[in-house]
Amino acid sequence: MRVVFIGPPGAGKGTQAKIVCAARGIPQISTGDMLRAAKAAAKLPADLVAKMAAGALVPDDVVIGLIDERTRATDCAGGFLLDGFPRTLAQAKALDATLASRSLKLDRVLALEVPRDLLLERTVLRRTDKRTGQIYHLKYSPAPPGADLELRADDREEVVQKRLDTYEAMTAELLPYYEGVGILRRVDGVGSVSEVTSRILAALGTG
Ligand code: AP5
Repeated sequence: MRVVFIGPPGAGKGTQAKIVCAARGIPQISTGDMLRAAKAAAKLPADLVAKMAAGALVPDDVVIGLIDERTRATDCAGGFLLDGFPRTLAQAKALDATLASRSLKLDRVLALEVPRDLLLERTVLRRTDKRTGQIYHLKYSPAPPGADLELRADDREEVVQKRLDTYEAMTAELLPYYEGVGILRRVDGVGSVSEVTSRILAALGTG
């Protein structure tokens, strides 16, 4: 199964993608994680580091190139879950084109919906363990004692507001595109992690 998760910052895409991918045995492909890994390895150009820190999108050709290469890897033969890609209409069309060139297509696009005030709380209070990469939340999933927590550079409130504005502008054309193809399913992202997982599996036709 080839699936896309679309959703605003803090909607729970990464949290749910890990659970769904473990259940289905497919890789999670997150452009945000790939870009942060490139930054940590000092391989991300300074202008792109600055764009991410400011809450802006990186150029389409950068992420399209990453996804084109990654989805050709052998572990993607049985399907994959794209988390945070595509984000623009140009990215969506490039994805369709690269899949069509391999006689493939997307099966489902899930849009996770969460109100803005809850998104702010989920992002501003998110923390990552520097040593393990595990994601926690100061209110909803506190880290165990001894965790070495850090705040993501783009999770400061003023940057999150900018990311939310960017998301709203982008989905104005992205969601209708997938609605038109008939593969979009909207999923309520409010509730416990397991409640949201159940809705996602139902929308994917697997539970
Ligand atoms: P990216 O890393 O993709 O960030 P994002 O889309 O803004 O999403 P987040 O990672 O903030 O949230 P999430 O939905 O994964 O939520 P999570 O599960 O962690 O992108 C970062 C940047 O990279 C972009 O701004 C851009 O610059 C660049 N970029 C990436 N892709 C790009 C592209 N395609 N084109 C151009 N630029 C691109 O959950 C959040 C918190 O809430 C966690 O603490 C979690 O524990 C908690 N939580 C989750 N679910 C629940 C629940 N049900 N109840 C309570 N708490 C919950």
